[in-house]
Amino acid sequence: MNSRERRLATGVLVIGTGGSGLRAAIELAEAGVDVIAVGKRSRLDAHTSLAAGGINAALGTEDPLDSWQQHAADTIKESYFLANPHTVEVVTSGAEEGIRDLERYGMSFARTADGRISQRFFGAHTWRRTAFAGDYTGLEIQRTLVSRAEQLEVPILDGIYITRLLVNDNRVFGAYGFDINDGTRYLIHADAIILAAGGHNRIWRQTTSRRDENTGDSFRLAVEAGARLRDAELVQFHPSGILEPENAAGTLISEAARGEGGILRNALGERFMERYDPDRMELSTRDRVALAAYTEIQEGRGTEKGGVWLDVSHLPRETIMQRLPRVYQTMLELQMLDITRDPIEIAPTAHYSMGGVWVRPEDHGTDVDGLYAIGEASSGLHGANRLGGNSLIELLVYGRIVGQAAASYSAGLTNHRRSSAAITEARAEVDTLLTADGRENVRVLQRAIRNTMTKHAGVVRDEKGLMAGLDEIKHIGQRVEDLGIHPDIAGFQDLAHAFDLKASLIAAQATLESALERRETRGCHNRSDYPDLDPKLQVNLVWSPTTGVVREDIPPVPDEIAKLIQDVSTNGKLVE
Ligand code: FUM
Repeated sequence: MNSRERRLATGVLVIGTGGSGLRAAIELAEAGVDVIAVGKRSRLDAHTSLAAGGINAALGTEDPLDSWQQHAADTIKESYFLANPHTVEVVTSGAEEGIRDLERYGMSFARTADGRISQRFFGAHTWRRTAFAGDYTGLEIQRTLVSRAEQLEVPILDGIYITRLLVNDNRVFGAYGFDINDGTRYLIHADAIILAAGGHNRIWRQTTSRRDENTGDSFRLAVEAGARLRDAELVQFHPSGILEPENAAGTLISEAARGEGGILRNALGERFMERYDPDRMELSTRDRVALAAYTEIQEGRGTEKGGVWLDVSHLPRETIMQRLPRVYQTMLELQMLDITRDPIEIAPTAHYSMGGVWVRPEDHGTDVDGLYAIGEASSGLHGANRLGGNSLIELLVYGRIVGQAAASYSAGLTNHRRSSAAITEARAEVDTLLTADGRENVRVLQRAIRNTMTKHAGVVRDEKGLMAGLDEIKHIGQRVEDLGIHPDIAGFQDLAHAFDLKASLIAAQATLESALERRETRGCHNRSDYPDLDPKLQVNLVWSPTTGVVREDIPPVPDEIAKLIQDVSTNGKLVE
C-alpha cells in the first residue's frame, strides 16, 4: 500500500478543474493570490468540455431589443419562480462581461459576417442570445480557460481525488485526498476552498455524464463539512439522449439540433409537440419537451426501443456541418448513422443538477466559513427548469465573483487554527477503505443506485415510488459496509469509485427526501400523485442529514424584472 503523503499549502484551493473552477483560479492568479486547482479528471477532459450548444448573454447581436433584464425575466419565469432573483440578476447583468473575459482569453466564437459574436435560438428564450462555437462550445471554453490558467502558471494537479474537507470550528483549513494513479496521499492546507466538483446526474442510468463524473462528489464533501444542500430534487432531464449503444446510453444530442430547426416525431410520424406546446413546438422549454417525449413513449407512441425521433435531415448539409458538427460526428461514431439522411432515436436523459450546495447569492459562500461552491455544485440560478446555455454563463460570472470573494476572505484571516483530529480522521477513512476486503463490489452498487433512481425518481415520480427508492438506497447503504476495495497495478481507481459511491448515496438520499416533500408538479419535477402546481411550495427545499428537508422562502422579484415576465402557463404539463 502506498502511504506516501505530500503536503502542500496555498491561499485558496479549488476542487474541480472544469470551467467554473478554472475561471475562479484565473481570477485568483490575476490578483496575485496563491491558488492550487485539483481535479479527478484530466484538465482537458473535465465535464465542461461536453457542454455543447452555447452560452447566454444579452449581447443583442441578432436581436437588438434584448436586454439583461429580459434575460433575467426569462430565467425566473422558466425556473417556475424557484430561482433566487438576486442570483439571476448577478448572472444576467454580468453575462456580457463574462463573454468579454472569454474573448480576452482568446476564445473563438462563431461570428456574423461583420465579425460580431453570432447568437442562436435556444428553447424558451425571448430572443436569440446563445453564443456558440459550433456545438463544441464547452470544449472551446475549457480549452480557452486551461490555456489562460497555464499562461498564469496556476498549478493544476490532474488525477487528484479529494476525499474530505478539513474543518475546525466550522472553518475550513484544507483538504485531504490521494493521487488516483499511484495512491500518493495529499494533505493540502488552505485558507479557503472553492468547491467546483459538479453535480449528481450520474446517479441515474441514462445520463449525459460519463461514467465517473457528476457522481455527487460536491454534495458529499459539502455535507460532511457541515454545509447544506438546496433543491436536490430538481434535476433537469434533457429531452434528447441517445438510446444506443448501451454503454453510451444517454449521450447528449444538443438542443442546438432543435434550435437550428430539428423536428420531433413519434413512431406514428406525428409531430407530437403540437399536442404539448403548439406555439413554441420544438423550441418549448426543456421540461416540457422532455415530459412530452416521455409521455409519447409511455402511452405507446414511441419506437420499439423506447424512444422518439429527432430529425435534422431536412436542414441544409452546410448548416449541419457548421453548426452541429459534434452531433454529426457522435452519431457516426456511436451508431454509424448519418444525420444528414436519417433521424436520431432519442429519449430523455438526466442532464443537470439544478439544485446543489446551499450558497449565498452575493458571493456563493456556504454555511462553513471559507468554503465556497460554484457551477453545477451550487444552487440558486435555475429553480425547476434551467434555460439551456445558462450554466456556462453562470460559471464565467460566478467564477470571477467567487475568486474575488475567496481572495478577500484569505487576505482577511488573522489566524488559522488547524485540527490534528480532523487530519487523523481523514487519513483513517482512506486507510480503512484500502483494507476493506468484503464481498460487495463498488461497480455493482453504483449500478444499483442508478437503477433505483431511474425507476423511482425519473421524469415522473410519486410517493410510493419515492418511498420504495428510499428503502432501496438504505439497503444499498448497508451493503456498502461489506465493500471490497482492490487497487491494482493500474492504479487506485477502485478507491476513487468507492468515494464516488458514498457520494452518490448521499445525493440519492437528499434527492428522494426532497422529492417526497415537494408534493406538487413544477417544472422538471412531475408528481403524478400531485399533478398541479402548489403556490405554497414556491419555496426552496434545503436538506442536511441532521435536519432533513426545511423550507426556505425566496425573495420577491424586483419590479424592473417582474414587469417583463409573461404568464407561466402550465398547459401541456402532465398529460398522463
Ligand atoms: O443541449 C445542449 O446543448 C445543452 C446545453 C445546456 O445544457 O446548456
